[in-house]
Amino acid sequence: MTGGAAARDDHLIIRPYEPQDEAVVVRLWDACNLRVPYNDVAWDIAFCRSSESNSRLFVGQTGTDVVASVMVGHDGHRGWLYYVAVDPELRRQGIGRRMVAHAEAWLATLGVWKTHLLIRQTNSGMKTFYESLGYEVAPRIMMAKAIAPSPAFLDPPDEDPA
Ligand SMILES: CC(C)(COP(=O)(O)OP(=O)(O)OC[C@H]1O[C@@H](n2cnc3c(N)ncnc32)[C@H](O)[C@@H]1OP(=O)(O)O)[C@@H](O)C(=O)NCCC(=O)NCCS
Repeated sequence: MTGGAAARDDHLIIRPYEPQDEAVVVRLWDACNLRVPYNDVAWDIAFCRSSESNSRLFVGQTGTDVVASVMVGHDGHRGWLYYVAVDPELRRQGIGRRMVAHAEAWLATLGVWKTHLLIRQTNSGMKTFYESLGYEVAPRIMMAKAIAPSPAFLDPPDEDPA
């Protein structure tokens, strides 16, 4: 994150996440209120990176600062976007738009022609952002079921079982 420096989106470099980005990416997601108790963000990142043929975490960088992110993947049918985030100090400069466009272009290279995303009810103001990028509210009922304990709620491994 920036610590205050302003940046135009034309200085933005979008690149795949690297392990040394973890602390700053987690700070970014905290600053963007994207962390929820039932998600273990480190696990989310590791899981995304474990299947790089169909999922990627991209970060946006201005100078040496990581200022944006998007996690993107497909499930064999549709694309999905997660963790779309821009440093609060650098919003409304087109960075979010470029991050989403980058994710869409990556999906398109894999043959994915349509992508979905979820907006939490508590974050419904973001609908305007996605609408400006051509997304529409899809008349579907989203259902979900936990089929295993969330990694966020598992006890950390015992490092010294003896
Ligand atoms: C959503 C988010 C990524 C947008 O990033 P951004 O860099 O500010 O977006 P852009 O500058 O590319 O905005 C593109 C257009 O989207 C619309 N837009 C962006 N933010 C908006 C907002 N808060 N309210 C209404 N419209 C908005 C505008 O039309 C904007 O164009 P304009 O600035 O020319 O009017 C950023 O607000 C963010 O990180 N939010 C917190 C995390 C989050 O909620 N992510 C989405 C999870 S579903």
